[in-house]
Amino acid sequence: MSRTLVICKPDAVERGLTGEILHRLERKGLRLVALELRTIDTETARHHYAEHENRPFFADLVAFITRSPSLVAVVEGPGDDTWQVVRILIGATDPAQSPPGTIRGDLGLQVAENLVHGSDATASATREIALFFPALA
Ligand code: RTP
Ligand code: MG
Repeated sequence: MSRTLVICKPDAVERGLTGEILHRLERKGLRLVALELRTIDTETARHHYAEHENRPFFADLVAFITRSPSLVAVVEGPGDDTWQVVRILIGATDPAQSPPGTIRGDLGLQVAENLVHGSDATASATREIALFFPALA
């Protein structure tokens, strides 16, 4: 078994798509371990996206992810690579390049508003779960 962090980003909450997104994860067979509607603060956002701090889009990314509530979740699956299962369901970073059948491919159009975050490796999942849900670390 392994766990990963999922964030239904502010655009997903604003558009009323959190149920749709959680439905897809649950239908796949993933189990919710933690779930919280939370406005992410700037410091947490900067830590979460620290790998991008030198990128030109970093300030816009932090402003976006903190602008209104997100639905932050930890999900669990039976294998060692639950993070990868979730990333496949989410699709490519740019929704316009993401195939139909994926969350971003079906529901999004813009890279800056791509609805959902999933940890990108086992180590990222461990770090991000500890950042958002220290009690689960
Ligand atoms: P995320 O971390 O949010 O799950 O997205 P990701 O792994 O698919 O993509 P990542 O490379 O980690 O980028 C983080 C977020 O930054 C925004 N971005 N904008 N303008 C651009 O070229 C650009 N590239 C990335 C996206 O919103 C992406 O989700
Ligand atoms: Mg990423």
